[in-house]
Amino acid sequence: MHKVLLLPGDGIGPEVIAEARKVLGFLIDEHGAALELEDARVGGCAYEDCGDPLPEETLALARAADAVVLGAVGGPQFDHVERELRPEKGLLRLRAELGLFANLRPAILFAELADASSLKAERVAGLDLMIVRELTGGLYFGEPRGIRSLEGELRQGFNTLVYDESEIERIAQMAFQIAQRRNRRLCSVDKANVLEVSELWREVVERVHQEYPEVSLSHMYVDNAAMQLVRDPNQFDVVLTENMFGDILSDIAAMLTGSIGLLPSASLNGADQGLYEPVHGSAPDIAGQDAANPLAAILSAAMMLRYSLGEPQLAQRIEQAVRQVIGEGLRTPDIVYSARQSIGTREMGNAVVRALSEQSREN
Ligand code: NAD
Ligand code: IPM
Ligand code: MN
Repeated sequence: MHKVLLLPGDGIGPEVIAEARKVLGFLIDEHGAALELEDARVGGCAYEDCGDPLPEETLALARAADAVVLGAVGGPQFDHVERELRPEKGLLRLRAELGLFANLRPAILFAELADASSLKAERVAGLDLMIVRELTGGLYFGEPRGIRSLEGELRQGFNTLVYDESEIERIAQMAFQIAQRRNRRLCSVDKANVLEVSELWREVVERVHQEYPEVSLSHMYVDNAAMQLVRDPNQFDVVLTENMFGDILSDIAAMLTGSIGLLPSASLNGADQGLYEPVHGSAPDIAGQDAANPLAAILSAAMMLRYSLGEPQLAQRIEQAVRQVIGEGLRTPDIVYSARQSIGTREMGNAVVRALSEQSREN
């Protein structure tokens, strides 16, 4: 029996997790998937509940689970809470506590959604790239950090960008292994023309490359990479980068596929345990309106079945069901294009479940 912890979180988090839950529920009921679903609080709702965005109890349940599926955390009502207690800090602590150093963010274009991409259809045709983002180091976690007073009234904010060789080595190993199973092209993105951290990053990536001679390695500065992603994204197979650069580049990659509401992610710790979450946030502007796209959350559940639970066939079923509903022309507002009608979050989730049940009848 696999233990799966659901952490809906804030904003649209609960809305999209409700749909992922329907899909997993269907697999349990109809396919006998050996999953046990549990729920806990994280983020702003946990802070409101008990003053901590990552309560002890939630962390303990997460540690005991085989996998965690998270919706999103945060919202404007928490933006003035003390930094240590902000919803985002709960998520960052969860990533750190579980040692989830590798964040996989695949950006794949569904052919029928080419018209929703912010690029011309011919530039994104066949798009299938994987961003491997380092997730527990760099500026997000570097010490010292803070806001301090200089002379007089003048204050100074500071953060530390730091990576040691072992942190670079393990994420590079992961990226090369992923590249090996794909098209064997790895592009490491850095800012080595300016930053010492990037100089070391390049050196370590080069060293790890010697173990993977069949993978072709290139390096690119991050400013150019942002430009190349929107100029010719198909030049990329696997993109390896540090925490902050990966955060930014993955939101860019999202729009190539039509919407950030489509992008799932997996955060892994080198063993099988993982945290699965959409790349998007809590979308306060559309929360509570049944307007969020649940497909990123549903596809994150599929990644969980593949990467943590050893159920690749069930993952494929979900992905196939998502392809089917998109093929049928069903669209949430974020991917509706021209005058087509859109459907809500719940209707989209129901459609995926219906597509799954049609697969069952065919088999
Ligand atoms: P966001 O991703 O929440 O929203 C950006 C834009 O994308 C908004 O216009 C939103 O409506 C749209 N969008 C996002 N997800 C969508 C979906 N599933 N379907 C349709 N449209 C969608 O980013 P933001 O506005 O910068 O951040 C809002 C809050 O979310 C902040 O508090 C931020 O810290 C938090 N956040 C959390 C996570 C996470 O939990 N992993 C990720 C990013 C941002
Ligand atoms: C993401 C989010 C998070 C990040 C925030 C909410 C801490 O933007 O998962 O992309 O920056 O990692
Ligand atoms: Mn982000």
